[in-house]
Amino acid sequence: MIRTPISALPAAVGNTMAGNTGAGSTVTVAGWVQALRLQRAMQFVILRDHTGTVQVTHRRDGGPLEAVLDGLTAESAVRVTGQVKANPVVALGGLELIPETVTVENLAQAPLPIDERTGPEGRLDWRFLDVRRRAAARLVFQVQTTVERAMREFAFTEGCTELHTPKLMGTASESGAEVFELGYFGRKAYLAQSPQFYKQMAIAAGVDRVFEIGPVFRAEPSFTARHATEFTGVDVELAWIDSVEDVMRFEERMLARLLTAVAAAHGAAIREHFNTEVTVPRLPFPRLTMAEALQISGTGSAGTAAGPAHAGRADLDHAGERAVGARVLAETGHEFAFVTEYPAAVRPFYHLRPDGKPQLTASFDLLWKGIEITTGAQREHRYAVLLAQAAEKGLRPEPMTDYLNCFRYGCPPHGGFGLGLGRLLMVLLGLDSIRDVTFLFRGPNRLTP
Ligand code: 4AD
Ligand code: MG
Repeated sequence: MIRTPISALPAAVGNTMAGNTGAGSTVTVAGWVQALRLQRAMQFVILRDHTGTVQVTHRRDGGPLEAVLDGLTAESAVRVTGQVKANPVVALGGLELIPETVTVENLAQAPLPIDERTGPEGRLDWRFLDVRRRAAARLVFQVQTTVERAMREFAFTEGCTELHTPKLMGTASESGAEVFELGYFGRKAYLAQSPQFYKQMAIAAGVDRVFEIGPVFRAEPSFTARHATEFTGVDVELAWIDSVEDVMRFEERMLARLLTAVAAAHGAAIREHFNTEVTVPRLPFPRLTMAEALQISGTGSAGTAAGPAHAGRADLDHAGERAVGARVLAETGHEFAFVTEYPAAVRPFYHLRPDGKPQLTASFDLLWKGIEITTGAQREHRYAVLLAQAAEKGLRPEPMTDYLNCFRYGCPPHGGFGLGLGRLLMVLLGLDSIRDVTFLFRGPNRLTP
């Protein structure tokens, strides 16, 4: 049986009008009962599929169809075969479906566990119903699909190879504190909190440019609207770069490309459902140094218990990022801002330090509307320097042997970035929480459904 999407029904009416019989064309529509109005003489079913809604109109006649419709419940999964008729009185698109057969594939229990008054946690508990019932919730994943596809296509045209690095690791490498530990055949394993070391290993393996979209796990007890314990990371690593500028140029072009694709495919829908305008950014994005960013944000934040902020240790906190984003927007009209030259003290040991500036790193964060969506850097590829920087951070080299070995046998200069897909989507759609752009959110207090 051919299933006709509800959005295609107006064309089916057109067929009718063009036909010489005057009878409506017969179609089969499959979807869920969004609303039921069972009146004395008439039975109305509002049927929803992933493309839209249509009114099914049946005049009571005492027949078997009448009984089937009377037995329906909200959110039951049904197939309706019938004739599409133009009817200007019908608010939903000026057409209706006159049913001939109705097959109930799965009768929904009543009452439903959620309704319009259900709060955010309740909606997450019943996420499949939440997503099914809200076109806006489903639009998020259509946009996500376009975003991932555009990034992949861009990466491909730029000569990237897509890799899938392991998420199970034998050592908690990059930073021990944020790593989930699990049992692994009598010993310990860890969930990867970034593909960082492996994408660098791929550079050492002679893969010229690395691209990966994959899960990232962070054991951070963060309860902000921007943090998840599992999220999707987009990672890029580029060999033979001249400086971190090459990495930023790659990323800004990638973002312009994906925003062009999103604006074309979903601009109108995003405006309708989220009241948000998708703007294709001008290139280059504004760049400012961390020192400049700290001046804008006023204080910055020390990010340590050591005391007040001072130039060498200062990091931007969330309020600082917002202030920087607002200032850049006011001065340049740009929603994006690269903040560069983070102090070495607040960056990982593997970030390269620019010549003559040992307190700083050749790194950046990309802010979009004042929210960090990316961290990137040129990496230190010189073995001796890398060892010294690890030692300076108090890291033992032994657990990182496999990583460090990459730098002993000819590793080119390289750099890359990690972008949080959920962060990108929440800013893109103007949503307040990463929960709304994640199909099934994972946080410190949520491991279900
Ligand atoms: O800034 P992060 O921690 O950087 C890294 O993982 C580096 N290895 C990347 C690199 O190549 N230098 O994470 C990268 C991005 C962040 O900018 C943010 O968008 C997102 O991942 N992110 C999170 N998203 C959701 N929930 C969390 N808990 C996140 N932590 C980071
Ligand atoms: Mg970061």
